[in-house]
Amino acid sequence: MASCKSVYDPQEDSNMLEKHVRRLARGKVLDMGTGSGIQAIAAAQKNEVENVLAADIQKGVIDYCKKNIRNPKIKFIQSDLFEKVKEKFDVIIFNPPYLPQELKLKDLTAEGGKKGYEVIEKFLSQVNGFLQPDGVVLLVFSSLTKKEKVEEFIKNNLLDFEELEKRHIFFEDIHAYLLKKNDLLKQLEAKRISNVKYFAKGHRGLLFTGSYKHKKAAIKAKNPKSAAFGRIENEAKWLRRLNSHNIGPKLLFFDKNFLAYEFIEGEFIADYARKSGKNSIKKVIKNVFHQLFILDSLNIDKEEMHHPLKHIIVAKSRPCMIDFERCHYSPHPKNVTQFCQFLTSGKLSFILKSKKISVDRNKMIKLAKIYKNSPSKSNFKKITALI
Ligand SMILES: C[S@@+](CC[C@H](N)C(=O)[O-])C[C@H]1O[C@@H](n2cnc3c(N)ncnc32)[C@H](O)[C@@H]1O
Repeated sequence: MASCKSVYDPQEDSNMLEKHVRRLARGKVLDMGTGSGIQAIAAAQKNEVENVLAADIQKGVIDYCKKNIRNPKIKFIQSDLFEKVKEKFDVIIFNPPYLPQELKLKDLTAEGGKKGYEVIEKFLSQVNGFLQPDGVVLLVFSSLTKKEKVEEFIKNNLLDFEELEKRHIFFEDIHAYLLKKNDLLKQLEAKRISNVKYFAKGHRGLLFTGSYKHKKAAIKAKNPKSAAFGRIENEAKWLRRLNSHNIGPKLLFFDKNFLAYEFIEGEFIADYARKSGKNSIKKVIKNVFHQLFILDSLNIDKEEMHHPLKHIIVAKSRPCMIDFERCHYSPHPKNVTQFCQFLTSGKLSFILKSKKISVDRNKMIKLAKIYKNSPSKSNFKKITALI
């Protein structure tokens, strides 16, 4: 059909997607990787479609389309994914190159990278910024692209999916998916958080990053698999209170299902200690102790300070404690004594030894016991004097 070498002749995947485009296209449409223009044409023929932007990375493809397709509703641009795209769309269509790369010379029409899913991965990591809140993505891919991987990228970018169709052709299955922004993403975008990306999974929460007022933000959302109840509200409550004592990352806002705080760009305490000099490490440890003493004085127990490897981030030589989900009032908070325990055993104590920072274990245990019975400032100072 197409006469240009670099133009993808419509195949089964194209026809399958075209069927759904005819059904679902509306409003403003983006046809990514337009190739022969088959999807753009199908969309433009619908009355419900206002206009279509058809993009392709290959200049030859765009030249071919401009020459052969004359439809006032369609505009063609050469763009590597969203590089040259500026607006948001109601429907974004993509029949990506999805085969694992076999030749040294890359075939952009069919090959999606070494593993086959790289172009899809990049597309999905950017698509939210170009999709209206109630917009949809129509995506096709093959079983040769690893369905689990594609679904993982979809979920990590806070999208929900629905399989519209699956067809078996020769030695592969072709899947057509409809993707939508999930509720959490819509809520975050309504709060003006953009560029939301999955970051890490904890026992109780899922962590995402995003941009808020030109700064990087961390967003903690409830892990649907966790049975823990009310953790988000609890953490937000304590962060708000402790921020006034300069403790914890700065809380930006929160809701029932999520909270957002300023992202701390730094290293976990053990990684920091491994790379830093003796004096810098001592300063950081004393600063942590100081913050923990404030918590003790306020009768607040943060919990988990006997293994805080993932709970203290050092940024610009200042330690910031994170994860206040289990924080609570207590007549006998154990923050300082637990940290003493951490320093005298466990991973950090080995690193301290290797840096020739000696902490007298027996003395520290003795002083921690005295402090436990009488948590006064003078007893606290005796502990920090050991560092
Ligand atoms: C499998 S063809 C699909 C063509 C047509 N949409 C269809 O359904 O038949 C994939 C198209 O994506 C284009 N493409 C590959 N990588 C791209 C990228 N990074 N940005 C934009 N287009 C890309 C290729 O040039 C090719 O035209």
